[in-house]
Amino acid sequence: MPYLIESSILAGHIPTLKGDGFYRQTPANAKNYLMKVIGIETSCDETGIALYDSVSGAMFQRLHSQIKLHAPFGGVVPELASRNHIQRTLPLLDELLSEAGGGKGQIDGIAYTAGPGLIGALLAGAAIARSLAWALNRPAIGIHHMEGHLLAPLLAAGDKPEFPFIALLASGGHTQLIQADRHGCYQMLGQTVDDAAGEAFDKIAKMLGLGYPGGPEVSRLAETGQPGRFKFPRPMVNRKGLDFSFSGLKTFVRNTIASQTEKAQTLDRQTIADICLEFETAVVDSLTIKCRRALRQCNTPRLVIAGGVSANRRLRQKLTEMALQEGGAAYFPPPDLCTDNGAMIAYAGYLRLASGARQGNEISARARWPLTELRPPRQPETEHL
Ligand SMILES: Nc1ncnc2c1ncn2[C@@H]1O[C@H](COP(=O)(O)OP(=O)(O)OP(=O)(O)O)[C@@H](O)[C@H]1O
Ligand SMILES: [Mg+2]
Repeated sequence: MPYLIESSILAGHIPTLKGDGFYRQTPANAKNYLMKVIGIETSCDETGIALYDSVSGAMFQRLHSQIKLHAPFGGVVPELASRNHIQRTLPLLDELLSEAGGGKGQIDGIAYTAGPGLIGALLAGAAIARSLAWALNRPAIGIHHMEGHLLAPLLAAGDKPEFPFIALLASGGHTQLIQADRHGCYQMLGQTVDDAAGEAFDKIAKMLGLGYPGGPEVSRLAETGQPGRFKFPRPMVNRKGLDFSFSGLKTFVRNTIASQTEKAQTLDRQTIADICLEFETAVVDSLTIKCRRALRQCNTPRLVIAGGVSANRRLRQKLTEMALQEGGAAYFPPPDLCTDNGAMIAYAGYLRLASGARQGNEISARARWPLTELRPPRQPETEHL
């Protein structure tokens, strides 16, 4: 027997996963009976599948990374990505359902990433999600990839952020400061004018001959770096506003590598570690200064950090300290939910479907899709896709 789910998101309250009464009450206007929502993430080079059970709070997930597939080409090949998503999605879903115990019949709703991302990869996920939903006679909903990232901290154990909050979304394709007034109501405060923070990590790693993705590699080497040997600029911190820029820093690092190579032919391990440390510290300082400014400007105590770069330990530590100094708190996703995954899409889909959002059956996706175009659930959603 399915449960009635209270729709309290519009009142500014985000439910915790377990036991806060979100689905214990039965409001007069509740019209949804969702319990188990599938999430399908295929926006780039990871196939992420998850099943979120809103009653038990359980989240089952599977992830297939295409890193090895694209490695020989030095970057993601869109056509290969789309084909691989088509091959992987349904077998991963079957594996997931057998782990969760039960077949497709237990699914109450399906969420998929509808953008932004690679259009072929998005359409592969959209076609599978919509076909499955049609065959099972269940609702499907297209989710904004960055809203998935933004809501991922709600899946962490312990304290969860309440709206309103400031969100720093720092990933491979985005670096944005968002004022999140409530679920689905987002204002852009600032963003990168060139490279994204994660992209900068990836490019520096490439220059240093490290693997992809660059963030974890640079971060690991930075731990053995000696502070003070190099001094890199902190981009944009002396300029007013909340925008970011990382391309000048990238050029500075390239020049440093060139001058070090001139001196010693090859870079020794300690020099690589020292460069990684100063680069990472420069990025973290720049992000921290802008986040502090945003908290003060918006007079909001809560800071949410999400996207792949939020896995960075130095960033987590610095932002936690800064938010405390500002009298607030910083919230992060669990480490395994910082980069792309199906769980964040399942959860974001659950929140929207449980609040009454419904879309038509057409298979559609958007390669470009500003987060600020989203609206709170309950309003007609088809216009957004
Ligand atoms: N520990 C880390 N420190 C710094 N960067 C990291 C770390 N772990 C991952 N990253 C970076 O995060 C990025 C991947 O994150 P994510 O999967 O969210 O990006 P994406 O989905 O490709 O981009 P977007 O979400 O903007 O579409 C990569 O650029 C990677 O280098
Ligand atoms: Mg992402």
